[in-house]
Amino acid sequence: MNLKSPEEIEIMHQGGQKLSEVKKKVLGAIAPNVSAWDIEELVTREIEACGGKSSFKMVPGYKWSTCINVNDGVVHGIPKKELVFKKGDLVSVDMGIFYRGFHTDTSVSVYLGDDPKVQRFMEVGKKALKQGIKSFKKGNTVADITRAIQSELVNANYSPVYNLTGHGVGRELHEDPRVPLVISGSRDEKVKLEPGIVLAIEVMYAMGKGDIVLEDDGWTLSMKDGTISALFEETVALTSHGRIILT
Ligand code: MF3
Ligand code: CO
Ligand code: CO
Repeated sequence: MNLKSPEEIEIMHQGGQKLSEVKKKVLGAIAPNVSAWDIEELVTREIEACGGKSSFKMVPGYKWSTCINVNDGVVHGIPKKELVFKKGDLVSVDMGIFYRGFHTDTSVSVYLGDDPKVQRFMEVGKKALKQGIKSFKKGNTVADITRAIQSELVNANYSPVYNLTGHGVGRELHEDPRVPLVISGSRDEKVKLEPGIVLAIEVMYAMGKGDIVLEDDGWTLSMKDGTISALFEETVALTSHGRIILT
């Protein structure tokens, strides 16, 4: 396991705060008639302006700073010019910053409509992330985080996207352990949570069954049954004084 020192967590906190500022700007910018490319440009500009680099551009083969998805698209969507948001869309934006040698990673979803069913869907996802984060504490294991997220989603009759996970984060964007959305008895679930662990806790979920398919662009993962999906993610560190949401 890849434990971070308090000094390293402090650096990650600096990067995370910068990413959090970028995320606020993204939240303010998502609206009907805005394109995914507009958001991509905003994120690239803001990350570079604060002395960081885009984490996602460092992933081999991926040339963009963001992953942007609408409705049944859940993760890894390429921010295309042709993707123009419209009223009623559920838009999610995933972004990461590499700052002073460390990555932090965060995602938000925004609903541009007024259907109470989708509004409830959004609230449940936010609550699932909140409950997952609350379970990130000394003495617990990764399974406790997984269980918290899974039960929040399943009790509301939604499906976790069981093939995707959160992850450790640090000098690499993706480190051990994985943070699954569904209990399966995996090795990752047995990892004991202790000071020095930094996790990107992610909630990917759908109104339907939660099965995913890869689109023809080779990146975008969408819901097989075409149902609405969303994604919420924060990078969180555990220190001897408790947990800190870095992003
Ligand atoms: N969705 C991933 C995460 O949050 C990162 C995207 S990698 C990319 O961990 F290459 F698709 F950008
Ligand atoms: Co992410
Ligand atoms: Co992530």
